[in-house]
Amino acid sequence: MLTSESSPSDLAPPGFTSREQEERISKNFLRAGLDTSRSVELIKKLSGNNQSPSTDDSPDLLTLIITLLVLPGQMNRSSVLDVLGAEGLDDWKSCGLVYEQEDTVRGAVKLYMYQGVLFFFDHADSGRKKDHVIGMTQASLTLAQLTIRDHVSCMLDIGTGSGIQGLLGAKHSDRVVATDINARAISFADFSARMNGLQNFDSRTGDLLEPVKDESFDLIVSCPPFVISPENKYFYLDSGIYGDGLLEKLVTESALHLNEGGYCQIMCEVAQYEGTKWYQRVAEWVKDIDCDAWMLHRQTMSPAEHARMWVKGRSNSSIDDWVNHYVEEGIESISSGMLTLRKRTAQNNWFTIHQIAHGDGQCGHSIKRRFESIDYLNSIGSAQALLSKRICIAPDAGISDLNQPAPDNAPEAKATIRFTSGLLFSELISESTELFIRQCIENRTVDEAIRHVEAASATPVDKNRLFNELHKLIGMGFLIESK
Ligand SMILES: C[S@@+](CC[C@H](N)C(=O)[O-])C[C@H]1O[C@@H](n2cnc3c(N)ncnc32)[C@H](O)[C@@H]1O
Repeated sequence: MLTSESSPSDLAPPGFTSREQEERISKNFLRAGLDTSRSVELIKKLSGNNQSPSTDDSPDLLTLIITLLVLPGQMNRSSVLDVLGAEGLDDWKSCGLVYEQEDTVRGAVKLYMYQGVLFFFDHADSGRKKDHVIGMTQASLTLAQLTIRDHVSCMLDIGTGSGIQGLLGAKHSDRVVATDINARAISFADFSARMNGLQNFDSRTGDLLEPVKDESFDLIVSCPPFVISPENKYFYLDSGIYGDGLLEKLVTESALHLNEGGYCQIMCEVAQYEGTKWYQRVAEWVKDIDCDAWMLHRQTMSPAEHARMWVKGRSNSSIDDWVNHYVEEGIESISSGMLTLRKRTAQNNWFTIHQIAHGDGQCGHSIKRRFESIDYLNSIGSAQALLSKRICIAPDAGISDLNQPAPDNAPEAKATIRFTSGLLFSELISESTELFIRQCIENRTVDEAIRHVEAASATPVDKNRLFNELHKLIGMGFLIESK
């Protein structure tokens, strides 16, 4: 039973209740139409007036949901009863959504909406315990933006937490399986799935891929507890596995559960030990898993920088202890980013790294483009074969002049080619490459375009250099096959 002394973190989490109650609440949530511009307006209005509104004379269901769970604030009991009725309030309480304190009702969990999906998680300040369920973090947002959103038959979200990745995936997958070692997180994810009216979301408690032993997927995503730390306090933050061991396990085991052509996208941190570059270790992980791999590198931090970033917000943790741990383990630096694998059973799998570019909204197509571009490049084969191909600039790429001196490492650079959608990658290009791209029109072959450049500039094109640049530009998808 809840008492007035209960704190939100003592409450039963969503999901520990009957299906009928949840269905009634789910109908309320769907009926309230949270996915409307009106709810956004309401959130703005409420948060603008008062971060924590205490009462509302005549709230409607949407106001109540937003006040108690989104902001989250409190309302007097009689106002809540006006909207939910006694049975409704009991449902909300026994689902762990709200609790009563004297004559007020308060939100016990938080609700957020992203891309039209509702999901629940613990209050950030709710006296964290090991099984705390985290809301959306920078890493989960990055993964959500980079996920390839093609329709798939079956998707897996490993370490689902609040369920956000799997819930988003349920919009473009026939079936989603979401796993987490934290049973409490699974109850949150499960509850959120029902509040969104999703029938294709299957959540299971267990370690990494253990709950899906004999299954395979077209898409696997994971935002695991990737932080390399000496601690093992929280499920959502600490893997309890030495160094980046969890990542190695996740990468190698996920590959075994990918269907041919399927993608796996994992947020990660990789340690650099004395004598080895961090990416050489990733290369080792992906060497024998029958996958092509693309690492988008976000940043590399020194032990002190990394400790400063992650110790913040953890009580009873010391930066010195973390730094000493790294020094003892021989960790020189820690690099972070997202690794994408694509299952391709072949002899010539590849692994490349790029610095991540700024993104413009949903960027999954930029990830897929890289893999398909390399396929196209490989299908051409030799530089000689390229001469007879017809290529053109991608519809979402453009060229602009370099309005500054060329950098030391690219003295020939005269212009920049860049994408205008998705991940906004750019490359410096030389004058002859720029001229060449501008000549790739009207269904000309590469050979014909080169001749036009030579005729216009009255100088021979340095073909080796051009082919090197084209190799890079086709591989990134700036230049594509002309149809
Ligand atoms: C950083 S949270 C990410 C949550 C969510 N996927 C997101 O994107 O916001 C990591 C999640 O992984 C779960 N986790 C930790 N170790 C795990 C393991 N060995 N197997 C499965 N899940 C695990 C945690 O309980 C937590 O929910």
